[in-house]
Amino acid sequence: MSDIVKGVGDGVMTLTFNRLDKKNAITAAMYADMADALAQASEQDAIRVVVFQGHETIFSAGNDIADFLNKPPSKQESPVYRFLSGIASFPKPVVAAVCGPAVGIGTTMLMHCDLVYAGDNAAFSLPFVNLGLCPEAASSLLLPQMLGYHRAAEALMLGEPFMAEAALEAGLVNRIVPSQEASNLAQAQARKLAAKPIRSLVETKRLMKKGEAQLVAQQMTEEGASFERMLREPAAREAFNAFMEKRKPDFSRV
Ligand code: COA
Repeated sequence: MSDIVKGVGDGVMTLTFNRLDKKNAITAAMYADMADALAQASEQDAIRVVVFQGHETIFSAGNDIADFLNKPPSKQESPVYRFLSGIASFPKPVVAAVCGPAVGIGTTMLMHCDLVYAGDNAAFSLPFVNLGLCPEAASSLLLPQMLGYHRAAEALMLGEPFMAEAALEAGLVNRIVPSQEASNLAQAQARKLAAKPIRSLVETKRLMKKGEAQLVAQQMTEEGASFERMLREPAAREAFNAFMEKRKPDFSRV
């Protein structure tokens, strides 16, 4: 079975992370599958809403660190950037069900979803600095807007996890439910949306996002250039090697 399981029914396309042995860490192939699925969903009238979900115990451990080490993304057309620009500009509603850890892009992608339902075990984290990297997915723009500068700085600079309650208070999620109910709730909300007039949904989303769309795209491009450079620098190499070797990184010489 694929690492991204795609299901379509009742006007809803559901994309499920399915790489539990690696905590749903996302590889280039998975980004490519998701980017292709979003392009298909955007074009096909039969698909009106997209749902992202993981497992009851883990949403995603973020980008696959072995991929970062061995084949870091190097071009704006690489799968991760295709996925990020695809979800940021996706015209139809996107719903997410998030349980357990949502690390890195597992959290930043939620800023581009319309409705987010969290399990009570959800834990969000943005450990870019701890990995010698910088924010992505326009999170350096969107997070300060959502949380205020100081709370965003805490999340992005310390990189410590924050739990579902804090995410609810910050406006990153719509509702918290027991983890075993999050997927069903997301599906039910998606089906409600899918039964509504699609042109109204698309226009409503466009109008809500139009003031920011260009800024978001610009921020993503600038973040992407820095991220790509930093992936190859000593701090990130040390962080990735330390993760693979299951030890603490030593940044004293970088
Ligand atoms: N990339 C590649 N492999 C990963 C991974 C990642 N982002 N996250 C977890 N894995 C792998 C581990 O290497 C381990 O593989 P192994 O069984 O072959 O040794 C397996 O998934 C289980 O991970 P483990 O750390 O033992 O699970 P856990 O339940 O103790 O912790 C997390 C779960 C998500 C908190 C922890 O794995 C983690 O912090 N992962 C890294 C997150 C990260 O920094 N992502 C990059 C964001 S930009």
